[in-house]
Amino acid sequence: MHLHKYEKIWLIFGVGSLLLFLTIIGFGAFYKGLQPQSHMMTIDPENVEAYDAFKQENLGVTKVNDQKYIVNVVATAFNFDLGKNEDGTPLKEIRIPKGATVLFQVTTKDVVHGFSIAGTNVNMMVEPGYISSYETKLDKYGEFTLLCNEYCGLGHHLMSTKVEVY
Ligand code: CUA
Repeated sequence: MHLHKYEKIWLIFGVGSLLLFLTIIGFGAFYKGLQPQSHMMTIDPENVEAYDAFKQENLGVTKVNDQKYIVNVVATAFNFDLGKNEDGTPLKEIRIPKGATVLFQVTTKDVVHGFSIAGTNVNMMVEPGYISSYETKLDKYGEFTLLCNEYCGLGHHLMSTKVEVY
């Protein structure tokens, strides 16, 4: 069989890049143990309260110490459940001091939602059956909007909350 010179070059180039990409993916997956972000933690979506972080009293902002905060959120159509104030009214905002390490842990009982804090690098997809978590530092003062950026139904555009970094 005769192969034209350019055909040969492109074949080598094509097969070469395929092998290169597969090697990179294989190295990442099997040697470095990479996987889609935060998707190793599963949860029963019908009973998220069975998981300590998502018990009603543990939702919202928890201070571990001055440098470390945990924020547990259950996303539901069409609200981010942050737990309750002492007087029983639902908490409507997340307040975090600037520069502290914050671990966000989010799950949902119903459909796919987004968890994105505009103007920061917090941006997760939240799926029923999984716990999405992300640890970061918020190092700009100000008010940010936590919003859902996955279409989740008729009230999708109403799904947002305030985040204050003070
Ligand atoms: Cu939740 Cu869109």
